[in-house]
Amino acid sequence: MGSPGTCNGLVLNSKTIRMSKSFDIGLEALAAGSSGATPTRAATQIAGAASTDVAAFSGSPAAPNGKSFYIETFGCQMNAHDSEKVAGVLLARGYSAADSMAQADLVLYNTCSIREKAAQKVFSRLGEMRYASPRKIIAVLGCVAQQEGEEIFERAPWVSLVCGSASYRKLPDLVAQLEEGGRRITGLDLDTDETFETEITRRDNPIRAYITIIEGCDYACSYCVVPHTRGPERSRASASVLAEARRLAGAGYTEVQLLGQTVNSYRDSSPHGLSFVELLREVAAVDGIRRVRFTTSHPNDFHREIVEAIDATPELCDHVHLPVQSGSTPILRAMRRTYTRDEYLEKISWIRAARRPISITSDVIVGFPGETEKDFEETIALLETVGYDGVFSFKYSPRPNTSATDMPDAIPEEEKSKRLAILMDRQRQIQIARNEKLVGGAFEVLVDGRHESHNQWAGRTTSNRPVNFTSPLQSLLGEYVQVKITRASANSVAGEQVL
Ligand code: SAH
Ligand code: SF4
Ligand code: F3S
Repeated sequence: MGSPGTCNGLVLNSKTIRMSKSFDIGLEALAAGSSGATPTRAATQIAGAASTDVAAFSGSPAAPNGKSFYIETFGCQMNAHDSEKVAGVLLARGYSAADSMAQADLVLYNTCSIREKAAQKVFSRLGEMRYASPRKIIAVLGCVAQQEGEEIFERAPWVSLVCGSASYRKLPDLVAQLEEGGRRITGLDLDTDETFETEITRRDNPIRAYITIIEGCDYACSYCVVPHTRGPERSRASASVLAEARRLAGAGYTEVQLLGQTVNSYRDSSPHGLSFVELLREVAAVDGIRRVRFTTSHPNDFHREIVEAIDATPELCDHVHLPVQSGSTPILRAMRRTYTRDEYLEKISWIRAARRPISITSDVIVGFPGETEKDFEETIALLETVGYDGVFSFKYSPRPNTSATDMPDAIPEEEKSKRLAILMDRQRQIQIARNEKLVGGAFEVLVDGRHESHNQWAGRTTSNRPVNFTSPLQSLLGEYVQVKITRASANSVAGEQVL
């Protein structure tokens, strides 16, 4: 185990980490980044000055080939991590990271299609490239690429490559075709049993490292594009996951986050045959790893053993993201979520019975077709019953290739907005009350940022709660410190370091 108060290894020690803009994070950004496969509101950017100071590599980039790339990423953590791996593929071919889109020879958009607005945003960003130099190569990756396919070439003829995440294994070949002058290149096969592994990953966060353990999704929620955009479920071999965790620990990372759209559906694809819980325990046992997170858990695959593993393993963080989507059983049925309200609440009761307090967060959709006032009230009542520490709430957005699109009794936009506002307000009150209970207590915080303007450090507790605090000490980034909480708000708590 890494010893408290140190930041061992290359990532933090061999780079001079200046307090660059990317670490002067606002409270909202910290709160928004707390969920797993949930799309973040803002696009994140890989490459460029903002992350140069903190970029970390596993593997060695090839000799420069004189060309540069820039990736703009939309969507969930899976996409953010895919971009880190795509950047690794390009570095392995000798590309360098450009400081801006304007300077890059190759611009890649890694896109999200979860709601209509997310997909529209991609086309408006692509529109800005209409008059770019013809020498600049434009690529569209991710969920919009998979969903729209060759249609993208019709809408934006200046795009040269369209590739969905299920085809990323082919990226070196596809990029080679681009280099030879190829145009209208596609990687759109969905029917795959491959996962995307790279020799180099360019990591944007020097504190928390992502590890994909399962790709795609075999559920069929009636509102969701993911099974159509990311393809069938594929689990990685446990040995490969564990080797990555060991490499990361060797590079100085102490916190890892295991990723998957349904992370707890993991089934080892190798003869070792590890279950999800066994994999959790093995990652937690890797020397140097102090915190293991995992997201997103599907309630259907959430078993009591996960809670038992958290109870028995201090390295497994006190946080479960368990999206409920609705508190009404008829709506859950229409959503094809495969559990009832009561079955969900039973799983919550296991978590609440754990020996240490475990923070629970969720995703909720309001205004699903046919959602009555009574259904909505059941969702609000469920928020109260569970007492979530965070909820990502969304207005239902009809999506192509999903069965809910054609369902009757669509809820008017105005009504969806009203319900969303009520839900967010209620949840805000719940979070204030929960956070206020922490005042006076002291918690271990992994420091991951600095608000220079407030003279405060930022970090997270094991339960993933953002903490802002003062300290007379310097250079706390990557350290584990004890913080006494003195104030609470809805999305974070504040305090001072205990020395
Ligand atoms: N795999 C995760 C969720 C992935 S998408 C899971 O099963 O929980 C992240 C969230 O976006 C979902 O949990 C859902 O709340 C929301 N979402 C997905 N499709 C949506 C749609 N069509 N309209 C509104 N919100 C949607
Ligand atoms: Fe979408 Fe449902 Fe799969 Fe989650 S489990 S990615 S919501 S289909
Ligand atoms: Fe993620 Fe958006 Fe695709 S949420 S899986 S990038 S549709």
